[in-house]
Amino acid sequence: MTKYIKKAVQELAAYTPGEQPRERDIIKLNTNENAYPPSPKIAEVLRRPADALRLYPDPVCHELRNVIANLHQCRAEQVFVGNGSDEVLALCVRAFVERSGSVGYHEPSYSLYPVLAAIHEVETRPVSLGADFSWAMPEGYAASLFFLANPNAPTSILYPKDMVRSFCKGFSGVVLIDEAYVDFARENCMDLALSMDNVLVARTLSKSYSLAGLRVGYVIGSEVLIGAMYKIKDSYNVSRLSQEIALAALLDRGHMERNVARIRDTRDRVANELRGLGFGVAPSETNFLWVKPPPGRTAQQVFEDLRKRKILARYFPGPRTGEYLRITVATEGEMRALVDALR
Ligand SMILES: Cc1ncc(COP(=O)(O)O)c(C=O)c1O
Repeated sequence: MTKYIKKAVQELAAYTPGEQPRERDIIKLNTNENAYPPSPKIAEVLRRPADALRLYPDPVCHELRNVIANLHQCRAEQVFVGNGSDEVLALCVRAFVERSGSVGYHEPSYSLYPVLAAIHEVETRPVSLGADFSWAMPEGYAASLFFLANPNAPTSILYPKDMVRSFCKGFSGVVLIDEAYVDFARENCMDLALSMDNVLVARTLSKSYSLAGLRVGYVIGSEVLIGAMYKIKDSYNVSRLSQEIALAALLDRGHMERNVARIRDTRDRVANELRGLGFGVAPSETNFLWVKPPPGRTAQQVFEDLRKRKILARYFPGPRTGEYLRITVATEGEMRALVDALR
């Protein structure tokens, strides 16, 4: 029956999300979720009467956009809210890349980027990162849209802002700076989206706000780019409940910041412990660690041994990524179990 399916879809290597195991007693360090609960204010939203769900949601998230605009000191017209930042990324390809255009990204980076280009049937222009996954960009590089994850995933590394700024200045297309993990980092690039016509910054509530299950992300940039995204989105892309819960979470920023502070402390301590055990650990500005086992043990072996002990990390096979494991920073107790297992 494949004759009914478009050639590009038949040939597509679909994005593989991290495993969501059914076992309950597993230590889950594979999808960079937040180990701590979201704001308690959300429980109040969930207790509201269900009657309002008869009605469609606000198609353009007025209230939520006002709160986000206030947070970032911009106009609500500069904010687009999506069903997770994944939706925002997909809309960028649809809005900013012609059929004859191209999508750029670093390698390794978030593995969804090439899949979005393949779905849209456009050329990809990957750029290999430098030694130790440092920033790299060839002279005269061009593409219609560049997905720049900063801090990068799966490497956990933050690129220096001066490099990002000068890349954006010289780039002829749109740069989407994907700041999914930026609340765990020491600096961000939001001011570039507010000052440059071709720059967008995407954020998500999935990581720092502990709301991966909610599916809310947003993007900020010039009114012209944001307006284009509104033209092509699904009519009701963010549910009524999602809008209300996101609002409660964003208005309780202190709760998020306390969780982030805890995770950063744990991260830095565990990174040092692992270095003491002979592991190579990239300098993380995220809620995960990019870890290379000591000589004599492959990353795949360590991944499988951890799995046997009911600790689930993420392993990306491949010539460069296959030497590393990506490990989410979770609670103190869970990380103690990890370090004990690795020891
Ligand atoms: C770099 C990066 N961008 C975006 C996302 C997706 O976030 P969301 O849950 O908002 O779709 C992820 C999720 O792991 C990510 O690692």
